[in-house]
Amino acid sequence: MAKARTHFICRSCGGVQARWMGKCPDCGTWDALERFVEPKPAAGAHRELAESWVMEAGAEASAGTVTATTATQATPLPEIQSNDVERLATGIGEFDRVLGGGLIPGSVILLGGDPGIGKSTLMLQAAGKMAQRDHRVLYVTSEESAFQTRLRAQRLFGNDGVQIGTESAPIAAVDGVDQLQNLYVLADTNLSRIVEQARKVRPAVMVIDSIQMIYKPDVPASPGSVTQLRRTCMDLVYVAKISGMAIVLVGHITKDGQLAGPKLLEHLVDVVLSFEGDRHHAHRVVRGIKNRFGTTLEVGLFEMTGSGLAEVTNIAALLDPTVRAAPGSVICPAMHGTRCLLVEIQALTANGLLGAAKRRTSGVDSNRLAMLIAVLEKHGGLRLADQDVFVSAVGGLRVVEPAADLAICLAIAGAHLGRSLPAGIAAMGEVGLGGELRHVHQVEQRAREAQRLGYRTIIAPAPPTKQDKACHAHGLAGLDWSLASTVARSMEMLETPSKTR
Ligand code: TYD
Ligand code: MG
Repeated sequence: MAKARTHFICRSCGGVQARWMGKCPDCGTWDALERFVEPKPAAGAHRELAESWVMEAGAEASAGTVTATTATQATPLPEIQSNDVERLATGIGEFDRVLGGGLIPGSVILLGGDPGIGKSTLMLQAAGKMAQRDHRVLYVTSEESAFQTRLRAQRLFGNDGVQIGTESAPIAAVDGVDQLQNLYVLADTNLSRIVEQARKVRPAVMVIDSIQMIYKPDVPASPGSVTQLRRTCMDLVYVAKISGMAIVLVGHITKDGQLAGPKLLEHLVDVVLSFEGDRHHAHRVVRGIKNRFGTTLEVGLFEMTGSGLAEVTNIAALLDPTVRAAPGSVICPAMHGTRCLLVEIQALTANGLLGAAKRRTSGVDSNRLAMLIAVLEKHGGLRLADQDVFVSAVGGLRVVEPAADLAICLAIAGAHLGRSLPAGIAAMGEVGLGGELRHVHQVEQRAREAQRLGYRTIIAPAPPTKQDKACHAHGLAGLDWSLASTVARSMEMLETPSKTR
């Protein structure tokens, strides 16, 4: 008889080790490795699950919901049938954008985030929206009671509740909780009972909030442990594939290590989304980390309001192009997937210790920052070796593309010299190691967005490319281009506030 394989898995990063160690060699967390016995590969339980599901589903299931195939033979690619799968839009535009248009039937989506960030709110809103459009949804709440879920729904879908959707394009049919006949709620933590109910309800989408509380009774481990988390997730992935329903798993990111984190599950699921933001601020960002059916570049922007999450379509609403920015603040048109967003980059420099100066970032790549500081020292004439440097992208967005280099350099130089750019200026450009400015892609789209929001001057690399010239000549009349070939030249645009008075 084959010997059961035992691994040790880190609760925090999901790293797999052959033997137990006090400290995870991958992420450095102490006392995080947990014993995991690999389930037997025969998957007898899975087969049982599949057979019972198909039997229960009966003839009508063959109408399209059950998509299990037994491809045991290698087949030439063109001969493989491609059923055009239709994505199921959740009705929350920003969420659908990150998903790549909607949920794919039979897929498993993992939504991770800090506790209290708004995961349950987002998923209940999405579930309600789908139910309103006659899709059956099963919302499994393993942390709250059904009554608490009803109260939350009252808040989100009550008659006077403000709905996701813009004022100009409201989403119809918002008549309170009583209309959500297609939204089924189940308060349970036992996986067998949940699967049983799913079989009865036959929803198009099942939400499990949260996966860390779900347990399989035949697995001798506590809920939230590595073993339970993996086994329940594997079973749910299997259920999704044989039933054709989309399953959304909600997972808490845990810092104290009591519960195993969603990182463990990333390789098992089709889509991994991360819900981020500062609990003390209203802005929230949904980001794709892995997506087998779309790009991971898109982000979804939300704001937490008294009646749920509202979509934010214009993060630059707080920017005022007519006001002169403070020293250390520069506007950068940054691409997020297919969309350009104007982001404010802020920097602060303060006296630090030579040789032990701090460099801290929020929403900006810290390695890139180290390089840009070196360029400013070497080619910009700044002395920053004894300065603590802090850089952040305002609004909870992460700006990692090189096109933001110039804005970061100008923000640091401005903060250090006490100078700022005149009102209505945005900057874009990649900075090379020689201090030269390099061209960025999608110049026209960035320039248009800046112009739309009232920015009149763009600092960009010189000499202009053909594309830049086309921008000047045609569509973007009225926009001034301030072209610079080096960081040092672009820094000449920084003025002391007194000079403008
Ligand atoms: P929740 O969705 O429960 O977070 P998670 O499931 O990620 O743990 O909600 C988090 C916070 O959101 C909670 O502190 C209250 C707040 N909230 C609002 O501000 N407005 C609302 O309409 C709702 C439902 C919640
Ligand atoms: Mg919750």
